[in-house]
Amino acid sequence: MSKTVHVDLNERGYNIQIGRDLRPGLSLAGSKAIKVLIVSDSNVDKLYGAKCEENLSSLGMDVRRTVVPAGEESKDVKFVKQLYDEAMKSGLDRSSAIVALGGGMVGDLSGFVAATFLRGIRFVQVPTTMLAMVDSSVGGKTGINLPQGKNLVGSFYQPVEVTADLLTLNTLPLKEYVSGLAEVVKYGVIWDAKLFSLMEHNVQKILGRDLDFLEGIVARCCEIKAEVVKIDEKETGVRAILNFGHTMGHALEKILGYGKWLHGEAVAAGMVFAAMISVAEKGFPMNDCDRLKALLKNLSLPVGSEDFGAKISWKNVRDAMTSDKKGIGGVPRFVLAERLGSVVFGCEVSENALEKIFSGSF
Ligand code: GLY
Repeated sequence: MSKTVHVDLNERGYNIQIGRDLRPGLSLAGSKAIKVLIVSDSNVDKLYGAKCEENLSSLGMDVRRTVVPAGEESKDVKFVKQLYDEAMKSGLDRSSAIVALGGGMVGDLSGFVAATFLRGIRFVQVPTTMLAMVDSSVGGKTGINLPQGKNLVGSFYQPVEVTADLLTLNTLPLKEYVSGLAEVVKYGVIWDAKLFSLMEHNVQKILGRDLDFLEGIVARCCEIKAEVVKIDEKETGVRAILNFGHTMGHALEKILGYGKWLHGEAVAAGMVFAAMISVAEKGFPMNDCDRLKALLKNLSLPVGSEDFGAKISWKNVRDAMTSDKKGIGGVPRFVLAERLGSVVFGCEVSENALEKIFSGSF
């Protein structure tokens, strides 16, 4: 059993396949043997590199594999250069493809290389983390970090295929798995109140990694993302709603130190902060704010200052939020909820109101 979600971007449209024991690369298979470079990280390659290579070779492709160190530090121009060298050495040409086998870092980095090598070659995403399956592998954002901040260099470049094999979730460390769940909760808040209550009622199945259940959840998240990206591929408008919880989330990641909190953990606390602002500014029901907090807590995600493990001052948070690249003219913008399943984006909130919430019950 598997599910297919189509991302409808006309000639750049593609399918997302979600299931078990899937074979990536079917969209590349053709009459001619093409060269394919699999890019993975040092953890994922050990687990799934050989199998992925075998699958692609059995489709008649000429396959090479290369590995970058696991961790966000590899989303760096140094590894872009390393992958260009590897692509040249492997003799990739304009008919070739890069296959990203891994989580968000691998997808973002190798997607950027695919977007720019020979002015763009085909790119397949094989996400192996929850976060990559429901978010980063879908929608075409690729890029790397600069010392000044995350994702400051990149491009919108759609893959030709996304193949999400749920079995890879079984080997994902718990902290990483749970971190990805924050993005799933996000889709419930921004778009689908039914998805939100489905999660509330099935926490044990989710934490127990019940793959039958997760198949439906991952597919629903991909459907929502596909719908948003179809309307606004390059984030000139509504795509910004995917950043719910990220204004504070990015600030916390920066202040606590990248890697101390995983992205999803920071986004979880950021969503609670955004929900509290929403209560004050948009009439978001307090009861729904409490439900969000309870769901995140039940999923073992951080929800506020009691989880920081260190004292964080409002000044640090404010400075980090104003330097976020999604702000305009140094003013942070928030995605705020009106009710579960419905949000508005681009909201400016007075510093007074923000500080009051941060220093109060957050
Ligand atoms: N991760 C947010 C987006 O793809 O727009």
